[in-house]
Amino acid sequence: MTDAALKAQLEELRKTINEHNYRYHVLDQPSISDAEYDKLLNQLRAIETEHPEWITPDSPTQRAGAEPSPKFAKVAHPAPILSLGNAFDEADLRAWLERISRLDERVRKASFVAEPKLDGLSVVLHYKDGLFVQGATRGNGDVGEDVTANLRTLRKLPLRIPATGGGPQPPADLFVRGEVFFFKKDFEALNKRQSESGERIYQTARNTAAGTLRQLDPSITASRALTFYVYNILAADSAVNLPTTQWETLQYLAALGFPTAPESVLCKDLEDVVAAYKQWEAGRDALPYEVDGMVVKLNDLALYSDLGVVGKDPRGAIAYKFPALEVTTQLLDIGVNVGRTGVLTPYAMLEPVEIGGVIVKQATLHNFDFIAEKDIRIGDRVLVKRAGDVIPYVIGPVLAERKRGARKYQPPKACPVCGEPVETVEDEVAWYCVNAACPEQIVRNVEHFVAVLDVVGMGEKIVAQLNAAGMVKDVADLFSLTRDDLLSLEGFADKKADNLIASIEAARGRSLHLVILALGIRGVGWVMAAALATKYRDLDELSKANTQDIDDIEGIGPSIAEAITDWFAQPSNQAVLAKLKKAAVWPRSEPRKAPSGPQPFAGLTFVVTGTLPTFSRKEAGEFIEAHGGKVSGSVSKKTSYLVVGEDAGSKLDKARELGVQILDEAALKQLAQQ
Ligand code: IVH
Repeated sequence: MTDAALKAQLEELRKTINEHNYRYHVLDQPSISDAEYDKLLNQLRAIETEHPEWITPDSPTQRAGAEPSPKFAKVAHPAPILSLGNAFDEADLRAWLERISRLDERVRKASFVAEPKLDGLSVVLHYKDGLFVQGATRGNGDVGEDVTANLRTLRKLPLRIPATGGGPQPPADLFVRGEVFFFKKDFEALNKRQSESGERIYQTARNTAAGTLRQLDPSITASRALTFYVYNILAADSAVNLPTTQWETLQYLAALGFPTAPESVLCKDLEDVVAAYKQWEAGRDALPYEVDGMVVKLNDLALYSDLGVVGKDPRGAIAYKFPALEVTTQLLDIGVNVGRTGVLTPYAMLEPVEIGGVIVKQATLHNFDFIAEKDIRIGDRVLVKRAGDVIPYVIGPVLAERKRGARKYQPPKACPVCGEPVETVEDEVAWYCVNAACPEQIVRNVEHFVAVLDVVGMGEKIVAQLNAAGMVKDVADLFSLTRDDLLSLEGFADKKADNLIASIEAARGRSLHLVILALGIRGVGWVMAAALATKYRDLDELSKANTQDIDDIEGIGPSIAEAITDWFAQPSNQAVLAKLKKAAVWPRSEPRKAPSGPQPFAGLTFVVTGTLPTFSRKEAGEFIEAHGGKVSGSVSKKTSYLVVGEDAGSKLDKARELGVQILDEAALKQLAQQ
């Protein structure tokens, strides 16, 4: 290629990268995957390495981060906030080691620390005489923004160190560097709240973390569950002897009271690093936060600093990236699910595509507003993301690749299952099928009901069969089923029918708490159902309660309180209650259990994975905590039990590998009774 042609290519690359930067950082609407972006940046770097005279200060390769915003006071960092070079495969990693080994022989015998590469934003925290005095974003690497007030809202951030009496005495001036990010479950919960209240859906956890930390109003930061880990001492006064290795630095920071990533490992050589990488990559979904790779650091800090820096990247550390979890594929069609409460949720039917080892054919589109807002059309290429156990979701269309035939999507005016008109509720984005007789809703409702009341032997298929035969039109109908009814269905013989009748009988005696939960009132999970069952004597009393009374119960907000009273105000629901009463499925409040009573899960750590039959992930966590147990996001030797549901992924493999005991939801509940 001639110089002129190469230069033209360089200009083109810069232009494209700048556009993508803008889409990602300013609009929060990326249209290419991180991997595709990295590829472009690497092509640009390659040209600039060949022709350093073409490097201009405004080239995207010369940027360490965003310029500090005028909204915040500026903070000069005590040392530059460096970035990291990338390795995309094992060959890159080995090439890196070879390069630095040639510069310094000591590298050949060096050990390493492998840390998760957290996908968040860098912050610098300043402690003076042990007191947290200032926190700043990275900004341009030399000057950042003062976000002290916002950082103070992070619960894990120690306002004084050492955080515990036994910790070491820190230097008078200590600057530590860490990463602020969202746990996957918290990001998911935030988007669920946004979707329910008709607010925009956030695309990337990282940008949302950045946006959250840079709020002018700290109460907004406080309302979202940001978290952070530290991994570096950026600067300190020299009076105190500091650790000389990275591994000891992590222990030291933890001893001072900082949260550090528990997954970090000490590796005696590069082979260890490669093995750890493979293990992490396989267990990546099980991590409670998003990682885009592993950071490999020389353990010997003197060697690390002797090796120096190229551009903005220290030679002694590298980011060893994981394969992308974002890919583009074709949107073949849009389907609509009808949920238990009648809510319609659109989903994308995709040209099957592999994302991080899993074949993805469907992805959620959140709600109909989202499709319109992003102007997603059938036939488009779309960017899809799969993060951990979360349902894959569509980020948006790749507009540059839109074909002429791409079709705009019209939300259905009628329920795709029963054909009745759909309705929307004021202040909500969701559309509902409000037909109480909609077979899909009934089936989902009954499925939920029998799962909560633990009617053994009644799966999804049987529920659908009973509904189709006209025998079960609501949950109360279950209790009038006869043996002959069941025998008239395909696939039922004497024994199966007897067993099912027996397990329906057993469900009659379930507690008020479980029956309230089983009714499937929007927003009423395990903990709220328990609170309601404690306050009200039976379903009649709860029926008569007004929104304000319910709202007064701790942990129940006005919108759920309203959902509860709305539910009881529906004549069709009252009819079901009357039938339940007649069928003697009418439990009374149990006397309140002393909160100081035995805590069956005390000292036990649980991990929950997959889709459980009745609990959401959050409810399972609440259940475990209510019984004195701890919930963790990842399986380790310390895990007491793994609670598994459907589609359990790598956590299950890990648990088997480590010999961790495995429970399903029913076994978990049983364990709580002991
Ligand atoms: S060390 C000089 N360690 O990744 C040391 N960085 O792509 C450079 N990051 O700017 C940073 N997890 O924001 C380091 N365990 C970790 C990290 C980490 C995430 C971020 C950090 C850095 C970026 C580089």
